[in-house]
Amino acid sequence: MGSNGAGKTNLLESLHVGTQGFSPRTRTDAQLVRFGERSGRIALRGRRGESDVQLEVTVEVGEGKRAKLNGAPLRAAEQLRSEVATLVFTPDRLAVVKGGPAVRRAYFDRALGRLAPARAQLSTEYAVAVAQRNASLRRVAGGFSSRDALVPWTEQVATLGRALVEARNEVIAWLAPGFSERAEELGLPGARMVYEGDPPTMESLDARLDRDLERGSTGIGPHLDDVVLTSGSRDLRSFGSQGEQRLTVLALLLAEAELIAERRGFAPLLLLDDVLSELDPGRRLVLAERVQGSGQTLVTATQASSLPLEPAQLLEISPGLVRAT
Ligand SMILES: Nc1ncnc2c1ncn2[C@@H]1O[C@H](COP(=O)(O)OP(=O)(O)OP(=O)(O)O)[C@@H](O)[C@H]1O
Ligand SMILES: [Mg+2]
Repeated sequence: MGSNGAGKTNLLESLHVGTQGFSPRTRTDAQLVRFGERSGRIALRGRRGESDVQLEVTVEVGEGKRAKLNGAPLRAAEQLRSEVATLVFTPDRLAVVKGGPAVRRAYFDRALGRLAPARAQLSTEYAVAVAQRNASLRRVAGGFSSRDALVPWTEQVATLGRALVEARNEVIAWLAPGFSERAEELGLPGARMVYEGDPPTMESLDARLDRDLERGSTGIGPHLDDVVLTSGSRDLRSFGSQGEQRLTVLALLLAEAELIAERRGFAPLLLLDDVLSELDPGRRLVLAERVQGSGQTLVTATQASSLPLEPAQLLEISPGLVRAT
């Protein structure tokens, strides 16, 4: 709890950086360091399942990040992701529902990385294949190489594209039941998610080769797919209210939290920033009761009276100071 500008979001961001090795807000590490300083350090102590865990992330402007797990340096700060699970809600996340397809693709690809770490790189590998095919398309169109030169890239796009569509469909299948249940519980009935897109094949890619050559880009494949989120017959992207879009993002997050707890054997840390605004008191209570039962959750609010339940611990944030009350 703390007034506007007190540092609540900063605190949650530091917990995200300290547990995951990256910020949910920015890719520019220098922004994580206090204005006027050259470096910053986040040191955390906690429990992962039954065992104690100590994390440390240091950020040096111009030098990047370094992380330690239980005192031992990690190869890269991002490696923390496979060690500790943290899920975050920030108002920016509403873009997953109301933004364009690219935001949803990125969200579900990251969920894939969290739920099936072995396939975390698949979407990047596919994107590289598409970029290479596009470059090759432009060389062929410009008369600098023959159509045969395209074949290996088209094969790559078909192979990786199929794997990516399969993986995304799997993620959707894993998340869908929990998503519907959590949404229902939060008062958003009949919520569903459906993957829209078919895997590209050599045949379908060849069939549109002339158009692809003309445009210099690959016009089918999972880089253009979408995930449609609906409640009953309504598409939540266009017709969801602000509050409903918020519930949709929360239902997604809660569904994933449960899966992570099942698969990894420990519940993720949940960071919920500004989640209570736009939720009515009944829905705030449902959310609070749901997160109470699993792992640790941090919720920010400008005043304690907007919390629907007595928290296990109330922290009072003022600029530069965190005080347990
Ligand atoms: N790198 C930085 N160094 C120093 N101060 C910063 C840095 N980045 C942001 N700030 C400042 O920290 C202050 C606290 O921001 P924060 O977003 O955490 O507030 P908040 O408590 O979440 O407020 P709100 O209730 O409005 O969401 C802001 O005034 C912001 O300008
Ligand atoms: Mg804030």
